[in-house]
Amino acid sequence: MSKKASEDRVVIFDTTLRDGEQSPGATMTHDEKMEIAEMLDEMGVDIIEAGFPIASEGDFEAVSDIARNTKNAVICGLARAQFKDIDRCWEAVRHAKRPRIHTFIGTSPLHRAIPNLDKDQMAERIHQTVTHARNLCDNVQWSPMDATRTEHDYLCRVVEIAIRAGATTINIPDTVGYTAPRESADLIRMLIERVPGADEIIFATHCHNDLGMATANSLAAVEAGARQIECTINGLGERAGNTALEEVVMALKVRHDIMPYRTGIDTRKIMNISRRVAAVSGFPVQFNKAIVGKNAFAHESGIHQDGMLKNAETFEIMRPEDVGLAATNLVMGKHSGRAALRAKLKELGFDLADNQLNDVFVRFKALADRKKEVYDDDLIALMADSASEAGTHLQVKFLRVICGTEAPQSADLILTIGGVDHQVTAQGDGPVDATFNAIKKLFPHQTRLALYQVHAVTEGTDAQATVSVRLEEDGKIVTGQASDTDTVVASAKAYVGALNNLIVRRAKTKPADEMKSVS
Ligand code: KIV
Ligand code: ZN
Repeated sequence: MSKKASEDRVVIFDTTLRDGEQSPGATMTHDEKMEIAEMLDEMGVDIIEAGFPIASEGDFEAVSDIARNTKNAVICGLARAQFKDIDRCWEAVRHAKRPRIHTFIGTSPLHRAIPNLDKDQMAERIHQTVTHARNLCDNVQWSPMDATRTEHDYLCRVVEIAIRAGATTINIPDTVGYTAPRESADLIRMLIERVPGADEIIFATHCHNDLGMATANSLAAVEAGARQIECTINGLGERAGNTALEEVVMALKVRHDIMPYRTGIDTRKIMNISRRVAAVSGFPVQFNKAIVGKNAFAHESGIHQDGMLKNAETFEIMRPEDVGLAATNLVMGKHSGRAALRAKLKELGFDLADNQLNDVFVRFKALADRKKEVYDDDLIALMADSASEAGTHLQVKFLRVICGTEAPQSADLILTIGGVDHQVTAQGDGPVDATFNAIKKLFPHQTRLALYQVHAVTEGTDAQATVSVRLEEDGKIVTGQASDTDTVVASAKAYVGALNNLIVRRAKTKPADEMKSVS
């Protein structure tokens, strides 16, 4: 065992804002990224990979603002193996109390073929770029992308070069989710045994979930000596996603008896950040997802309920409170007052100023008038709506649809555009289609509807529906999400929410004179 690998502390490196956000459709706004970064820091994540600074102006600004504002965590930016990428990355992360540059290159035969470098040329590039990064920053992480499909001898050679050039963390990515637990462990063990200097650095594991083995592969790597796990909230990430932070952290906590390692995560903050990431990314959490799924702590069957009442440990290996699920799901209703709402929202992770509370209280009362019982999930949905609507360019003021067995259906809509009300009636193939046509008439745009998804927030016919909408323009995706007891109203608000995000995105990427046509 190497010196680092004999320590029991596992570093949690969160890449929700980089690898997670990079996944098609998961785009977050600047403010959403700032909010998630703050939540990650508060929950005790050690390193936040905040973005890929050279990818766009927006990414650069997000990384530098997160670097400026984060209190505790190391702030890391990603850079390809090019000087200009590394310089840009450093410009963004240098404002952090504890900055890190993460540079990478694909080392497997398939990836080496892309820049058309032979083994020696690539080794030289690694030496130069890691040295360059290290001259800028004393905390440098290097990754041989597609490490799990790289020839072992070559992998050892390049890892050694990166260590000699000054890398302080070596990350071993399973980029395509191809490895399996035993192989994941063997690879880390081999590197620790064979590479000179391995003793002085930390090995990280970065797994993708294409075969559903990301969590198992990450934990196996830790058992073999890796001391940094790269992961995302809810397992967000390209294709089948990345290792889920909540899974590895809770596995290490619950099975400390056989995996004696610790993290610095306050696990009681898991549920709130999971819900928030689901809301802002537009990727809902599957009901039966481990740890954070709606059903993860639900005991419906008679046998289970009976056992749970006698002794919770019969069917529960962890307590709901340990992951931040309130022990009681106190139901709110139209008689609940401001103080009760404030207390409940605080418990759910929303600490509101008085003016914010006033706004939410009005919405809460409107919801409680339509819905007898308001559950935690309803309030969380309400908060997601208020966050996305306040001060936006487009707002749904009025909507009435006429629908039934006779087509076409029609929608009367009043849309407030930049503070001015506009009214229109449009028809369509169903109430949602008619509503979207009405929005398009009032705010013409050329986008493709990449996703339209509805799911019920709670049970019952008066349940709110949460609608997610993704729109694509010039290959870029924006999302919107809204909830309402009326599915068509939720759809209109989600669509308009996505358009508001589109306006923000256009404003960031287009020259000033073109911007005028946006409003
Ligand atoms: O999956 C991967 O290989 C990556 C690298 C950039 C670390 O995300
Ligand atoms: Zn990745």
